[in-house]
Amino acid sequence: MANYQRERLPKRKYENYDEDSSSSTQQIRHERHAIPNKSLKSSKDATPSRFVADHYNSKVEVGVERRRESTIIFLRSFNNWIKSVLIGKYVTRDGHALDMGCGKGGDLLKWNKANIKSLVGLDIAEVSIEDARKRWSDMKGRRFDAMFNVMDCFSSNISDVIPRDTVFDIVSMQFCLHYSFETEEKARITLNNVTSNLKSGGIFIGTVPDANWIVKKLKSLPKDQLKFENSIYSIRFEQKDNYPPFGHKYWFYLKDAINDCPEYLVHFPTFQKLASQYGLELVYKKRFHDLYNEVKEEPHYRELLYSMRVIDKRNEEEMSDDEWEATGMYIGFAFRKK
Ligand SMILES: C[S@@+](CC[C@H](N)C(=O)[O-])C[C@H]1O[C@@H](n2cnc3c(N)ncnc32)[C@H](O)[C@@H]1O
Repeated sequence: MANYQRERLPKRKYENYDEDSSSSTQQIRHERHAIPNKSLKSSKDATPSRFVADHYNSKVEVGVERRRESTIIFLRSFNNWIKSVLIGKYVTRDGHALDMGCGKGGDLLKWNKANIKSLVGLDIAEVSIEDARKRWSDMKGRRFDAMFNVMDCFSSNISDVIPRDTVFDIVSMQFCLHYSFETEEKARITLNNVTSNLKSGGIFIGTVPDANWIVKKLKSLPKDQLKFENSIYSIRFEQKDNYPPFGHKYWFYLKDAINDCPEYLVHFPTFQKLASQYGLELVYKKRFHDLYNEVKEEPHYRELLYSMRVIDKRNEEEMSDDEWEATGMYIGFAFRKK
């Protein structure tokens, strides 16, 4: 078992893919532009989005007990703990929240604990939205109002599904922003949806794979190899000659969770620069392992490590080295709207 209670920092620094001066950042357009009308409707060329939606639709909601039997239970718990930390740090009491790519409502308990007043949950997967709605209406001790809608958040405009005068205090995008980096237009529509109803001073939080970590791994492979993996995940690229800022596709597999789905690298400096065009200022960015080391000794979050079963106190079990490696692939972030 991995002893991740000790400091676990990367032994060597990753290469400079993450630097702001990369050609990737320079290739984005430098103006905030109006969304073309065609993109306000469902995208005609929605094949990759549809593929992703069908993948998540096909995942059966198995309930808490079955989830506990999963081989990646500690990884799931750890990811949930990270999301709780982000929500705990940035959500204010009685806030109005938007969860874009909310899935089956896996964060509903976290929103309840944060004492929000209302939640709008959006996702492209119809079945997931039905599950989320049911989970919310069955929730014991529920303290917030909620509405859930099916929406392609990367191709349609949020004003199609919510009243224009809605104001959010917080927007959350957990483990889903990377799908929007298929094209610059989708990334822009996404950021427009994040910010158009977010109040000034409001916060945008999220989690996303760290392209720097992934590219470092890819570049360390022998010349003709495009795939790396461990016993629970694999990442397979189609090429490693070009590093475009958008549409740099790879196929992701995660045991018991994601069955070879197309994802896109999010070059963080590109994302940050684009976000600044939508009035968003970066206030927090940490790799999961660093975030863990930063807050794990704070009594509240330490207690949560046990209550959320990231560490199973009774059986003295914790995640395997392979799960730990996989969690190291992600970044947690927060932006503030000016
Ligand atoms: C890894 S799941 C994360 C779900 C949830 N945020 C969580 O943390 O449990 C990614 C989610 O993004 C959603 N998604 C992917 N593309 C989307 C799009 N274009 N619009 C809205 N949601 C999308 C998927 O349907 C899926 O529910």
